This record gives sequence, structure tokens and C-alpha cells, in this order.
Amino acid sequence: MDNKKLLILGGYGNTGQLIARLLLQETNAELILAGRSIKKADNLATLLNDRFEGDRVTGICADASDVENLKQAFHGVDMVIVASSTAEYAKYVAVTALEVGIDYMDIQYSTEKTSLLKSMTSEIEKAGRCFITDGGFHPGLPAALVHYVAQHYDKLEKANVGSVIKVNWARLSLAESTAYEFMAELTDFESLVFKKGKWEKARLQGMLDYITMDFGRGFDRQYAVPMFMEEMRCIPETYPSLSETGFYVGGFNWFVDWLIFPLAAILLKLFPKRAAKPTTKLMSWGLKTFSKPPYGTLLKVESAGIKDGKPITEDVTLYHEDGYMFTAIPVVACLLQYLDGSIKKPGLWTQANIVETNRLMKDMERMGVDITIQVQ
Ligand SMILES: NC(=O)c1ccc[n+]([C@@H]2O[C@H](COP(=O)([O-])OP(=O)(O)OC[C@H]3O[C@@H](n4cnc5c(N)ncnc54)[C@H](OP(=O)(O)O)[C@@H]3O)[C@@H](O)[C@H]2O)c1
Repeated sequence: MDNKKLLILGGYGNTGQLIARLLLQETNAELILAGRSIKKADNLATLLNDRFEGDRVTGICADASDVENLKQAFHGVDMVIVASSTAEYAKYVAVTALEVGIDYMDIQYSTEKTSLLKSMTSEIEKAGRCFITDGGFHPGLPAALVHYVAQHYDKLEKANVGSVIKVNWARLSLAESTAYEFMAELTDFESLVFKKGKWEKARLQGMLDYITMDFGRGFDRQYAVPMFMEEMRCIPETYPSLSETGFYVGGFNWFVDWLIFPLAAILLKLFPKRAAKPTTKLMSWGLKTFSKPPYGTLLKVESAGIKDGKPITEDVTLYHEDGYMFTAIPVVACLLQYLDGSIKKPGLWTQANIVETNRLMKDMERMGVDITIQVQ
């Protein structure tokens, strides 16, 4: 693996700093940590240079809303990893990456970002750049889990993926932009599921079409509502024998799920600007006040189909106690494949559909994700 130079936008944020640590542990890459505070970037760079060999980290000031600043920051870099809560500036970051001639990876869930990047596909291909979008846990892993189980069937008929994120929010410090982005995503997502051979819109933002999944580990049976992930779009075409697939997101706590999110969704539709701050505050309060242990983050695929003429089922559960580690680990597992050139190719890709899943699973397990597989 050569010494690539990677710039992490949001490099001292919760997810960004874990990506940085894992990259230093797993690769020889040189890192630039960027954000709007040079002090925070410098402090973390010094700390990481003390902890890891090679003096490979520097800190810089970069603002995703400032194109000239981004141009300077991207100069001499191989790839930008967007781990900042800057989905609203996705255009600036992606266009500047193309202009300067560097590769790109992001970890945000944002329908606007997805349509923007899709509209740039031919420019990305013409420029010969590798753009990987929707990195992380979700987005990032649901479709990869379907690819993983699909190889064990002659005919895959059903593959539903669900997640549980139980975090001790009271102990977390989130940037205001991150909290707002989080709430905007969770109150305005597409809720499509693939049933009886076609994509269907779920009713009332999925609240009437929830499923329950047994996640085990003290989380037991939980409800989860359909949340469309771009990475799932190609799944029914890839496996035409599938009659049912989709991604379902689990709840946070009863108060936030059934009271705050529906209220925030209505207020944000009616008054997008004026309601942003108060609804974000309300959500932060609800998460901090009503979230109770056990804490942990899980992703599970429940699949069914035919193998050697017999019906079988395969359930795969991925678990990490820390949701941020569980976001950073798949990003770095994907980057290991990018850095050795095996998935570095021109075009726009989603993490879940560009990675080789067997290696992804092995690398994630080595980095601390607990994997349970049950075949019946
Ligand atoms: N795919 C997944 O599974 C997954 C999971 C978790 C989170 N995420 C996403 O990851 C992103 C980061 O989440 P987080 O919880 O790590 O956030 P966080 O801890 O609040 O960190 C956000 C980082 O972004 C930086 N930032 C904010 N505005 C910026 C700007 N205009 N220019 C440059 N940097 C800026 C912040 O630094 P300054 O404010 O000092 O500039 C900070 O370093 C969010 O978009 C979140 O939705 C994805």
C-alpha cells in the first residue's frame, strides 16, 4: 500500500477522528484533519502523531462553505473523506474535488446530496475520478449485507435489513449542524420497500408499515420503519429472484419516535427555516432524556431462499457497542480496498455496492465488529 494523502473534512468530529485513528492503525496513509477550527485540528494532529508512528498527520483550517478555501485545502491530496455535517455544501465539496482532480468519499445520508452526485456522474467518469458516496453504517452496510448473504443461495427470495441504534446521548457532544442534519434526515426520508416484485411507498412515513425484528443481545424484538437507501435500489435488479427487500430503521425511544419526529416533520414542512432550531433542540432534549440502556448499535439481515433444492434461511447480525466506531470501521474497511487499488475505478459508487463483501466482513470483524451468522 503506498503513502496516499487523505484529507478528512470533519477530521476532529466524533466520526472523523475515529476514521483517522483507524486509518493510522491500518494503513500507511498520510492524513490531513480539516474543519473550521485550526486549534482543534492541530491539537488532534499532535495527539495522533504522538500515538502513531511516522508523523503522518497535519491539521488545517477548511470550511466546506468556502470554495476558494477548499481548492487550497485539496491541493496535493489524493482523496477527500467528507465526515463533516456539511450535506448542504455537498455541491461545493464535490465540484471542487473534480476541479482540483482528487477522489471523494462521503458518509452523509441526504437525498439532496445523492441527486446532486447522480447528476455529476458523467463528469466524474470523464474526469476518471473515483467517487464513493454513502459510506458508513447506514448508509453504507445494508446492501452489502444483502450481497453477503446472496452468495449462499441458489435463489434468494427475501432479504430485509434492520438496524437498532441505542446511544447514551446524554454523554455525547454534537455540533449543532450535526444535530440538525440528523433530525432533517429522520423527518424527511423516502420510505420505499420492495414487495411482491415492486418498490412501494410506505404509508404515513412508514409508521403504518413497520416490521419487528429480534436483534437479541438484550435488545430483543424491536419495531423498525422503512427507510429507503439509495444503495438498495439496484438490489432487486441484481437478484431478480427476490420478491421482498428493504431497509428498516429502528426507533430511538418511544417519546422521540412517536411524538417528536411526527411533530417535527409537520413543523419543518410548514416552516422549514423558523422550525429548524426549536425542533432540533426538542429532539436533542428527547434523545438525552428518554434514551435508556442497554446501549449498542446493530444491523441485521433476515434472508430466505433456496439452496440445493431446499428452503433455507440465513440471518446475519453485526454489532458494535459504539455507534461511532461502527460508522468509522466500514469506512476504513472500504478504504483498505480503495487504497490497494482493488476497487479504485472511475465513476460514482455507493460504498455498499463497490466493496468486496467477504473481505469487508473479515476486515470489520478484525477491527472490532461482532458478527453472528445463523443458517437454518
Ligand atoms: N453513514 C453513517 O452511518 C453515519 C453515522 C453517523 C454519522 N454520519 C454522518 O457523519 C457526519 C458527521 O457526524 P458526527 O456525529 O461525527 O458529527 P460531529 O461530531 O458533530 O462532527 C462534525 C464535524 O464537521 C465539522 N464541520 C461542521 N461544519 C463544517 C464546515 N462548514 N466546514 C468544515 N467542517 C465542518 C465540525 O467541525 P467545525 O464545526 O469545528 O468546523 C466537526 O469536525 C454527519 O453528516 C452525520 O450525519 C453518518
